[in-house]
Parts: sequence; C-alpha cells; structure tokens
Amino acid sequence: TTVEWEAASYDMGGHDTYMHKEIHEQAEAVDRVLRGRIDDRFSTVHLGGLNLDARDARAVRRVKILGCGTSYHAGQIGAQMIEELARIPADAEPASEFRYRNAVVDPDTLYIAVSQSGETYDVLAAVQELKRKGARVLGIVNVVGSAIAREADGGMYVHAGPEVCVVSTKCFTNTCVAFALLALHLGRTRDLSVRDGKRIIEGLRKLPAQISEMLEQEEDIRKLAAQYAEARSMLFIGRVRGYPVAREASLKLKEVSYIHAEAYPASELKHGPLALIEPALPTVAIVPDDDLLEKNRAAMEEIKARSGQILAVAHQEQEKADHTIVVPKNEDELDPILMGIPLQLLAYHTALALGRDIDKPRNLAKSVTVE
Ligand code: AGP
Repeated sequence: TTVEWEAASYDMGGHDTYMHKEIHEQAEAVDRVLRGRIDDRFSTVHLGGLNLDARDARAVRRVKILGCGTSYHAGQIGAQMIEELARIPADAEPASEFRYRNAVVDPDTLYIAVSQSGETYDVLAAVQELKRKGARVLGIVNVVGSAIAREADGGMYVHAGPEVCVVSTKCFTNTCVAFALLALHLGRTRDLSVRDGKRIIEGLRKLPAQISEMLEQEEDIRKLAAQYAEARSMLFIGRVRGYPVAREASLKLKEVSYIHAEAYPASELKHGPLALIEPALPTVAIVPDDDLLEKNRAAMEEIKARSGQILAVAHQEQEKADHTIVVPKNEDELDPILMGIPLQLLAYHTALALGRDIDKPRNLAKSVTVE
C-alpha cells in the first residue's frame, strides 16, 4: 500500500509538470544545500547536525548507507565519495533488503539512512532495528521533522525543497551533494589534504552554474528522446563512478516512460549482456573523462562492432557513439552529480513523447510508508 501526496498545494511556476519544474530547480537547490556549510579557512565544511565530533569521526571504521530506489542510488554515489575522499570503506545497500537479513551490526560502523520523504517504512524499520542494536545512525533526509530525521542520532537535511513528482530528481542531486559534503568533512578529519579539500570546495561551488549550463541543452535532449522513445528496451552502462549514474538513469526511464531498462557495469558486458546487443537495443553509456575513459571507449567499440546504437553522456564528443550529450567537467569525484541531470531530461522527454502521466506514473506513489 502507498500514500498519495497532496500535490495540488504547490505552484507549478509555469511548467507543465512538477517533474519539469523540479529538474529546472536544481541549480537553486544545490546552492541551498551548500549555503552556510563551507568553511574556507580549514578547507572543510560545517555540519553541525551530525552530532559527531572529530574524535567520533575518526573512530568510524566503516560506513554503511541504507535507502530505497533513487535514495539508494544516491547512497551508492555517496559510498564512493566517502571511500575516495575519506578512505573509509563504505557501501550502500537497499534498506528493504538489509532489514530482513539479520545483518551483523558493528559498533565501529557509521550507518546512514537516506530518504527524500523521511517516511519510507523500509528505511525507518532498518533505522529502528539498528538503534535497538546500539548502532549510531545518521539521516540524510529532505523532509524536515520526518520520522527518519527524528529517529536518527543526527544528520543533514538536503534542502531540495518540496518534491511533488513521484519520480525523484532534484532530491537525488541534492543528496549526492550532501554526500560530497559529508565525504569532505570525514576526509578532512583524516588524511585529505588542505589542497584536495580546496579542490573539492571549488568543484562544489561550480555546480549550480554547470547545472544551468547543462539544462540549456534541453532542446537537443528532447530531439534525442523522440528517437529513443521507440525502443522497447534500453541498456545503461557505466564503470565505477558511472555505474550508479547508469542505475539511477535506468530507474528514471522505467518509472516515467515504462520502457524496460537495465543498468550494467560496463566491465561486465563481456560476461553476458553483450549477447543482447543488436540495433533494436540502444545503449546509454556514461563516459566520464577520468582514468577509465579508455576502458569505456573499448566497451563502446564492442557495442558498435555488434551494430548497437550508442548515446554517450561524456565530457567530450565520443567518436564511437551515435550521439553524445556533453556535460561540463568538474572534479573527477564530483562528476556523477552532473552526469545524472541530462538523463533526467531524457527520461522526462521520452515519457512526454509517449504521452505518459509524468507526475504520477502508474502503480507508484510518492512515499511508501507501509511494508
Ligand atoms: C524515485 O524516483 C522513486 N519514486 C523511489 O524509488 C524512491 O526513491 C523510493 O521509494 C525512496 O523514497 P524516499 O527517498 O522518500 O525514502
């Protein structure tokens, strides 16, 4: 069972759907999650609500992130940021799985519950089970005062503002930014240098303008979506930082357009999914300009050799792809934040071309507050 949102209470501000409005609010929303948190003097961030002093932060041996759907994917991006910037082993798991598997609860692990609504029952139940076993749980939540925010020992609000469309967009982006802040904070209590701290802060500050720049490509993405709307199924591939982006993009397309989509690590193609490649199965490839660029190019070559169509999301035009959406480059660690945005637009325009009920896809509701 699910609970419906009272959507009518928010103004659409000239947009035809809340999804479109919320995609376009992202530069402003990211500005809000950053506001008042950056500490230039020490190249770190202030996160007062964590209730975790430097000594506690240093005592963390592992980070486990729990969430569902899009929040889980943001958690996967967050886990990679924490490993990269703070060198703390981190991973994400669907809260809906975690709560049923009698997981080993470790006192040196920092648990993080992620939720837009703060009311998702699977996440809340996982938090309650963790607390019962004496774990320290932080919440990364959008809705202020929600059940998960109240239950957690501390945390961060992502300040995305009200998200009405059932399909999450701006909250996903803000949650990824919130994770970058947390990773920077944990990193700077450990071995992340002042120089790297500054580099990440500069990258974070660039995000709002880069998001606006990205959104200016909407008309080109709309044209691409019109072509891909005919597909019965689509494959999304990415490697390491690009893989959670591929997973989230695949979920977005499924939810809002009802086109079947599957995400795979690009590195796993040769272990099975290559058998699916044919002209009728387009692939969206996430190809950041990082140290895996050549590997990703090789994967695109494999697909091309089997006459598969490719849409690349990259920092520069990709020769092997039929089309490339060029995304502004940021710091490598922050690239996933921007790479997800054109794929929100792709899902949106595909759904629009197919005449779907964009703000309320069939069978779904905004928050799933029961089992
Ligand atoms: C997002 O587009 C989905 N509708 C869904 O996966 C959602 O992210 C999930 O149900 C978790 O919701 P929450 O973030 O409010 O906990």
